[in-house]
Amino acid sequence: MPTLLITGANRGLGLEFARQYAADGWKVIATVRNPQRADDLRKVPGDIRIEQLDVADLDAIRAFAERIDEPIDHLICNAGVMGKYSEVDPDSWAYTLRVNAIAPTILAQALVDRVAPGGKVVAITSKMGSIADNESGGGIIYRSSKAALNAAWRSLAIDWRGRDLSVAMLHPGWVQTAMGGPSAPTPAEESVAGLRRVIAGLTRERSGSFLDFQGKVIPW
Ligand SMILES: NC(=O)c1ccc[n+]([C@@H]2O[C@H](COP(=O)([O-])OP(=O)(O)OC[C@H]3O[C@@H](n4cnc5c(N)ncnc54)[C@H](OP(=O)(O)O)[C@@H]3O)[C@@H](O)[C@H]2O)c1
Repeated sequence: MPTLLITGANRGLGLEFARQYAADGWKVIATVRNPQRADDLRKVPGDIRIEQLDVADLDAIRAFAERIDEPIDHLICNAGVMGKYSEVDPDSWAYTLRVNAIAPTILAQALVDRVAPGGKVVAITSKMGSIADNESGGGIIYRSSKAALNAAWRSLAIDWRGRDLSVAMLHPGWVQTAMGGPSAPTPAEESVAGLRRVIAGLTRERSGSFLDFQGKVIPW
């Protein structure tokens, strides 16, 4: 069966991705920052291997990637933080950039040689990273971290055109998780089901696209 490697799999969208791919018989390598807070993940039936990885630790990312010696069919860089929303706090900004933009880029680069032929390399980004779509302002830290992620991954997609894989930056919608909050319109099950359809349909020709969970193109 194919293998998924996903970050931030102990709750929210990451947990739901692990649940849905495992239910379909996939082998799931599920990374979590703190295995002691992974009880929900442990209860998910299927072939799930839990690995500790704090993505803010870039050396740990490189060491983790070196330990991965099996082919990865889907790599989903999902772990993310919001940062301070209404205050431009420099420390929060630097940390948020590290987790949301630098970490997924370093992880994808470190694992690209492990990606199986026809593999999919996915960043869970946000429409809030779209500069064209920003009509409401605010959220400077989060918005800029996801815009940086999008810029970096667009380059990865171009730099990897010669490889048999496709890259995408995917917006999950506004989803009912700790980050999205209870007023969010979209349940995690629906978002992840949509994202999985989009991932399954990715092609090398469309590698480097910025899409939502229904497959709609989002302007940069
Ligand atoms: N929910 C939405 O409406 C929405 C909308 C657009 C984009 N997104 C994006 O979707 C992704 C998942 O978000 P979510 O809604 O599922 O949020 P969530 O419920 O807050 O979950 C975030 C996940 O990221 C992990 N994480 C955070 N910092 C980490 C670190 N340093 N190392 C390892 N793991 C770390 C968390 O682990 P801990 O439990 O250890 O903190 C948790 O598993 C994020 O990239 C987010 O930006 C979400």
